[in-house]
Amino acid sequence: MPDQHRLHDLATLAIHAGEAPDPTTGAQNTPIYQTATFALPDASEQVKQPGGQPGGYFYTREGNPTTRVIETKVAALEGAEAAIASASGMGVISAALLTVMNPGDHLVCSNAIYPISQDFITSELPRLGIDVDMVDITDLDAVQSAIRPRTAAILTEFLSNPDLDVADIAGLAGIARDSNARLIVDNTFATPYLLRPIEHGADIVLHSATKYISGHGDAVAGIAAGPDVLIAPMRRFVARYGSPISPFNSWLLIRGIKTLHLRMERHCENASRLATFLNDHPDVQRVMYPGLPEHPGRNLCNLLTDGWFGGMLAFEHNGGEAACHRFAGHLELACRAVSLGDVSTLVLPWTGRNLVRVSVGIESIDDLIADFRQALAASVATA
Ligand SMILES: Cc1ncc(COP(=O)(O)O)c(C=O)c1O
Repeated sequence: MPDQHRLHDLATLAIHAGEAPDPTTGAQNTPIYQTATFALPDASEQVKQPGGQPGGYFYTREGNPTTRVIETKVAALEGAEAAIASASGMGVISAALLTVMNPGDHLVCSNAIYPISQDFITSELPRLGIDVDMVDITDLDAVQSAIRPRTAAILTEFLSNPDLDVADIAGLAGIARDSNARLIVDNTFATPYLLRPIEHGADIVLHSATKYISGHGDAVAGIAAGPDVLIAPMRRFVARYGSPISPFNSWLLIRGIKTLHLRMERHCENASRLATFLNDHPDVQRVMYPGLPEHPGRNLCNLLTDGWFGGMLAFEHNGGEAACHRFAGHLELACRAVSLGDVSTLVLPWTGRNLVRVSVGIESIDDLIADFRQALAASVATA
C-alpha cells in the first residue's frame, strides 16, 4: 500500500507551496503577471539579479512572479532546492544536457526514450563534439561498461516511452556517483506522485509539464528541478537561448498541479483496471504495464513507488500493426492523439510497430473498458 504520510505531504505541497496572497491586492490565487518588463526602482541593482529574486524581477525572459510559483511548487514536490520552467519539455532537456556537458564529453543515454529527445541527443550533441552511447538502461552492467573517463551524464526516463521499462534509479545513481557523472531523470510518466528521483540519488529531474503536471492538455511546458548549483546555469541557458515559459502557461500549470495527487490516483486505478481487461482479452497479444504481475520491472517499480504504477500502458494486438490502427480508428470515447497525461484518454498506434500506447485518463473506467471492448471487436471484424 502507498505511504499515506508521503501522499499527505505531496497533496499539501501541490496546493500551497510557493503561494501567498498577492501582496498588492490580497488575491488568494496567484495572478497572471502578464508583463514583459518590470519598472526598475534602481536599475543598477535590479539587472544584477538574473532570474529575478522576489522583488527583483526585471524582464520576463529572465524570471516572472507567476513562473516563480510553479517553479517553487515543483521544487517542493520533487524535494529539490530549485526548479526552472521552460517553454516545453524539450526546452529543459536541452538546457540540462547543454549545462552539464562540454565538447569532448560523453553521454550514456537510455535507448528507450521519447523519440524527439533521442533525436536531439543523436543529432545535436555530436555536432557539438559530445559523444553518445545509447544503452539498455535496465541492464546496469551494460551502463557500467559504457562509462568512459569523459562520461559527464547518464540520461534516462524512469518509465520508458512507450515500452514502460522500469529504470533502477538508485543503481544508476550509484554508477553516476562513482564515475563523477550527473544522473538526469525524465520523470514525465511517473510524476513526483510515484517517484522523487532526487531521493534516490538523481541530480536533475525533468518533466514535460505538458503532461501530468498540467494535466489538462492545455499548455506546452517543461520544468526541471535540482540543486541550485545546476539549476542556476540552466536558468541562464533558458534566458540566453530564449526558451522561457509564458506567464499564462505558468498559471495553467499552477492550476493543474493543485490536483496532481487526485488525478494521479485515478489515472493509476484506471490504468490498472484497463491493463487487466486488455491482458485477459483474446485479441491482445501482450500488455506492457508495470503493475501487471508478469511485467519484468514490476518488483522494482513497486519498491520505488510504494505500489503505484502510473497511468500509462501499451499493448500489442494479435492482428499486428494494421489491427492497432483499425482499433484506434474505432474508438468513440478515447481520442487518437499524441501527448499524454491528460484527463482524457489518449491513444496512439505507434508507427512501424505492433503497439498501441494508451495514456489512461480519469473518465469512468466502465465507460473506457466498454469503448476499448467495442473497438477491439471492430478491429477484428473489419480485418
Ligand atoms: C517522456 C517525455 N519527455 C519529454 C517530452 C518532450 O516534452 P514537450 O513535448 O513538452 O517538449 C515528451 C513529449 O511527449 C515525453 O513524452
